[in-house]
Amino acid sequence: MPRDLLADKKTLEDMPPLSKEPAADSSGDPNPMPPLYQVPTSFVEDRFKRMTDLHPFASLLNQDDLDDCDWLEHVAFDENEAATREKIAYRLAVCGELCSGIFSSAYPTVSGPLSKLIKARKQFPSVDSADSDRKRILMGHIIATKFKGSKVVTDDAMAYPSDWKTNYQLGPSTGHHEDGETICLHSLCVHPDLGGKGLGGVLLRSWTQRMKDAGLGKRAALICRERYVKFYESAGFEKVGPSACQYGGGGWIDMVMEFDAVSHGDDVYP
Ligand SMILES: CC(C)(COP(=O)(O)OP(=O)(O)OC[C@H]1O[C@@H](n2cnc3c(N)ncnc32)[C@H](O)[C@@H]1OP(=O)(O)O)[C@@H](O)C(=O)NCCC(=O)NCCS
Repeated sequence: MPRDLLADKKTLEDMPPLSKEPAADSSGDPNPMPPLYQVPTSFVEDRFKRMTDLHPFASLLNQDDLDDCDWLEHVAFDENEAATREKIAYRLAVCGELCSGIFSSAYPTVSGPLSKLIKARKQFPSVDSADSDRKRILMGHIIATKFKGSKVVTDDAMAYPSDWKTNYQLGPSTGHHEDGETICLHSLCVHPDLGGKGLGGVLLRSWTQRMKDAGLGKRAALICRERYVKFYESAGFEKVGPSACQYGGGGWIDMVMEFDAVSHGDDVYP
């Protein structure tokens, strides 16, 4: 049957003109429902709004990230607390799957906190006023290993075998133990220029969720200064008490998050 083009034209003429404004409510309801397309923005929590201009994305770390992690570790931590480049290299090499980075990217020529970081990096020697390449930038990282025989972080867990490059061991007495059930979070840091935007909290929560869901261990453990206890408690860790660790001069607090309420019982508190 031929299509009635005149009828189509009349239908179009009878329709209200298109407008960018929301359609007027014709129901007479004094409190009409907001249009559906506005609803999702109202679900963005305040803690995420603080980082919207950074467009962060998370990724596993590996040996290729050594320059980034070494740089960030030494910008964020005091010198006596920062892990050495060699120790970071060891951890990224033997258990990068336990380590997470939170990244963004930016053009060095566009003003903002990220381009400032890019320009401050020796890693990007080509940066000048004409550089139009977008750069990836590490904003925060978590570096971890697994340990067997303790539910809390120990000095042995924080150390690493000196011959790791030539003599790989699945279960050395220091450093990463492949069968360990305690995932030791050694380093969580965010670049100081980007602090207070929620990056540290998001990185920590996404990391603990990933460790738990992937079944990589039975618990996460860390040592921290007293001032960070609340920060870790808000992410689900529990304060155990003063740590026996003497790393960086001691004075640490043990924090633990059990992934399963049921105790599996072969590792022990000291
Ligand atoms: C700890 C650290 C990772 C937090 O990162 P961040 O991105 O600034 O943290 P967030 O913005 O997600 O803040 C999360 C909460 O922790 C609190 N917090 C952040 N830094 C803090 C600090 N130095 N002391 C006490 N509380 C702190 C904030 O008040 C915030 O609470 P809020 O959400 O109620 O405002 C960052 O300060 C850092 O890299 N510090 C240096 C390295 C370090 O000491 N790491 C901890 C090792 S134990």
